[in-house]
Amino acid sequence: MDMLIEKIKSEGIVLSPTVLKVDSFLNHQIDPQLMHEVGKEFADRFSRSGITKILTIESSGIAPAVMAGLHLNAPVVFARKRKSLTLVNDLVTASVYSFTKEETSEISVSKKYLSEKDNVLIIDDFLANGQAALGLADIVKKAGSGIAGIGIVIEKGFQNGGQLLREKGFRVESLAIIDSLENGMISFDNTAKN
Ligand code: G4P
Ligand code: NA
Ligand code: NA
Repeated sequence: MDMLIEKIKSEGIVLSPTVLKVDSFLNHQIDPQLMHEVGKEFADRFSRSGITKILTIESSGIAPAVMAGLHLNAPVVFARKRKSLTLVNDLVTASVYSFTKEETSEISVSKKYLSEKDNVLIIDDFLANGQAALGLADIVKKAGSGIAGIGIVIEKGFQNGGQLLREKGFRVESLAIIDSLENGMISFDNTAKN
């Protein structure tokens, strides 16, 4: 996706050989026009999948997920990372292990918003080790819904999440795939359907 790749090239900051900072348009400040296009691209790629619901995880997945929901005309649910005061009953939960933080956390969604009738598109901002996406997929399965696929804004192709999810049979659509962040340079996977 050209607009996204140009934005990453012009505003992305390489923090280390494994971490890309994109605070100016995705993780802190949000670029609505870009998110609108991101949502449109997800909608195009999953237009024939019969999506009835979008599932993401707070907080940075919400903006691209809402825009995809707008274009697919489907409601958006975000999994919560912390216990909510009002979200207490009938929760579907999953454990997510973070390699960065070296800890496992629980994520949850109310049963009310996912059913056997739903066909779900999972969306997230980054794909690194794939643990967040796996946790979301686990929640979808526990709720009895179907999974149409996983839409990712930025995949780090040099980490193992993409391979892990694809090997499990999930359809993964990443709008930008980064091959390497070595030597402070951002290089993209040009063979990917960007
Ligand atoms: P990990 O084990 O590979 O680190 O994956 P994990 O899912 O635990 O990632 C931890 C957080 O870091 C997630 O955000 C994820 O989106 C984000 N992340 C992973 N790699 C990168 C990267 O290269 N750049 C940026 N900017 N973020 C990355 P989170 O803690 O859930 O925060 P939120 O922003 O969604 O609130
Ligand atoms: Na994030
Ligand atoms: Na995220």
